[in-house]
Amino acid sequence: MPYNFNTTTPETEKRVDALLAKMTLAEKIGQTVQVFVHEGNRAEMVTRIREGQTGSVLNIHGVRNINALQKVAVEESRLGIPLLVGTDVIHGYRTIFPIPLAEACAWDPDLAAETARIAAEEATANGLFWTFAPMVDITRDPRWGRIAEGAGEDPYLGAVLAAARVCGFQSELSNGHRMTACPKHFAAYGWAEAGKDYNTADLSERTLRDVVLPPFKAAFDAGAGTVMSAFNEINGIPATVCTLTLRKILREEWNFQGVVLSDWASTKELLVHGVAENLREAARRAFLAGTDMDMTADAYHRHLAELIEAGEIPESLLDESVRRILRLKIQLGLFEKPYADPDAAEAAILKPEYLQTAHKAALKSMVLLKNQGGILPIDPAKTRRIAVIGPLADDHHEILGSWYGIGRDEDSISILEALRAALPEGVELTYIQGCDIDGKHPASTISAVTAAQKADLVIMVLGEAESMSGEAHSRAHLGLPGKQQFLLEAVHAAGTPVVVVLVTGRPLVIPWMAENIPGILCAWQGGVRTGPAVADLLLGRENPSGKLTASWPRAEGQIPVYYAHKNTGRPPDGRGGFQFDQYFHSHFLDEDHTPLFPFGFGLSYTRFDYSDLRVLTPKVKPDSALKVSVKISNRGDRAGEEIAQLYLRDRVGEVTRPVKELKAFRKIALEPGESATVTFEVPAQSLGFHGLEMRYKVEPGAFQVWVGPSSDEGLGSTFEVVA
Ligand code: NOJ
Repeated sequence: MPYNFNTTTPETEKRVDALLAKMTLAEKIGQTVQVFVHEGNRAEMVTRIREGQTGSVLNIHGVRNINALQKVAVEESRLGIPLLVGTDVIHGYRTIFPIPLAEACAWDPDLAAETARIAAEEATANGLFWTFAPMVDITRDPRWGRIAEGAGEDPYLGAVLAAARVCGFQSELSNGHRMTACPKHFAAYGWAEAGKDYNTADLSERTLRDVVLPPFKAAFDAGAGTVMSAFNEINGIPATVCTLTLRKILREEWNFQGVVLSDWASTKELLVHGVAENLREAARRAFLAGTDMDMTADAYHRHLAELIEAGEIPESLLDESVRRILRLKIQLGLFEKPYADPDAAEAAILKPEYLQTAHKAALKSMVLLKNQGGILPIDPAKTRRIAVIGPLADDHHEILGSWYGIGRDEDSISILEALRAALPEGVELTYIQGCDIDGKHPASTISAVTAAQKADLVIMVLGEAESMSGEAHSRAHLGLPGKQQFLLEAVHAAGTPVVVVLVTGRPLVIPWMAENIPGILCAWQGGVRTGPAVADLLLGRENPSGKLTASWPRAEGQIPVYYAHKNTGRPPDGRGGFQFDQYFHSHFLDEDHTPLFPFGFGLSYTRFDYSDLRVLTPKVKPDSALKVSVKISNRGDRAGEEIAQLYLRDRVGEVTRPVKELKAFRKIALEPGESATVTFEVPAQSLGFHGLEMRYKVEPGAFQVWVGPSSDEGLGSTFEVVA
């Protein structure tokens, strides 16, 4: 059972009381301070820890190193309060799994929980009991580099996966340690204008509540013990001092009992935002808004004491924060078991079963975007010579993705290596890099084209470096970086059929490729087992099943393009095509209004048919559930998995409603020729929205419902919510 940090016991509270009663003001403040210890400040920080002036450290690694600092807190400080040691364990600690955006494409909460659990096993065995994850920011902007770290564009799927990841991190671990999760970044960090990291987020409170917040709420309901506030401002107020999110919503409405941590130096950045004159004022505003712990800015360390002495912050408020922090330390078992066993640390990482899960996760995350004429899977009987071309084919590093913990290149298997190992004898494989990823050197197209001409099939492995997404790595141009597009077009012109494998941390803008290349597999940055998973899928040993969780634009100018948009008063008429003949509609003169690949889309080597859609509850009361069934049949000649998706539209509301909203999904495995009837149950309470008075409500009235293979297709029907 995952641990729920949002509960407590009288015994825990008694222990907190006893500690609080013994603490000096300086020691209490110390608990609210988180520092980054490095060679340059180590001596000073050790003194601080010994004096009880620091309660938490972050981003240190190595179990002996961590234990050494912990020892100072536990054995040398007056009260022996252990340190909370936090770090970013985002998609694996040493066994690196697919980036979260990729893993979301598996639409598999059990898998997400399992990879998080493994990450927790490895990290706790190495002395880390607090992860700054999951990142649950919804975003609709692939320019934003941190799209890689989240679940994509949808609040419902985002909430399901947020809860799963929290449960995974906080599950019962084999080593007797416990980990707490830290959903982040609260809130609206994914709403950065133009997708530029740290940028202004200006959004309505309705969008905040209906779209941005549901994954956070789900994470807290699942028992997450902490939360990190965001760098950005929300409607003019930096998240670090935003009382709407931190006080009203988090504490009053949701009754969250855990610890609020600021992001890196974000209290200090209040000066740069221009909402505080000096660090003292920044500390005052952040603390009063509800930030319990200050990450690395030293604002609390320097100024909380004088603010309390001056009566500008009541000491009772400090006591509340310290209570939360001490409670968390007790819940984590740090007083009883502050150290990880250095002799067990090595054996706890990269276990064969973890690598197997990494392989499975990579397989389930990958999305087949195009398969014209059934070019995939590769038929080795007809394909005697294969040319593998591209800068990411023989790569061990970029496939790890951003935030790869303590993952190492040598742990991973490249796509080229995996193909070499998997191809039957007699198939000749040549490899040409062709160009680098970022275009620093000229492309060597001649050797690539020559290799292509001599081959029966070309596999090009193209995409992004891990450092092209993640924090502070936004991009304005979302095509293939460097000379890769040039190389692709040159190789294509050689006339040999080409399949592209995309290694990427975000949706790319690839209209030419989508038009001209018959086979495209999005492998993402799939972690240490990217290579074997790609080989399995290209050779048809496994059947692709992933589906996109963020729309892929046709052009950067469409962004944000997402499926759950509003209808407007003048929706575009018809589908696709440039619409020079329809002037007064919401569309582009020079580009289609639809995405290149929609949310929920992904192909399989088999074909699934949907039939017999039945609304079992044509009238739904607010306290009951909508029930819809559909028959899904595997009409192809391979076994496969299908992710069936249920979408709704509220026809008329007191405020406008999206044209479609995902409300349920189900993954089913079907043998060739097999059919299954899937029944969805959607609680009527989840059909609501924040209405005119900004209160959540489920309105009676007519709804449309669709069940299908993507946000763009499906069988439709109607039902009614009745009072
Ligand atoms: C800044 C990032 O925004 C946050 O996600 C991360 O957890 C902290 N740095 C700590 O590394």
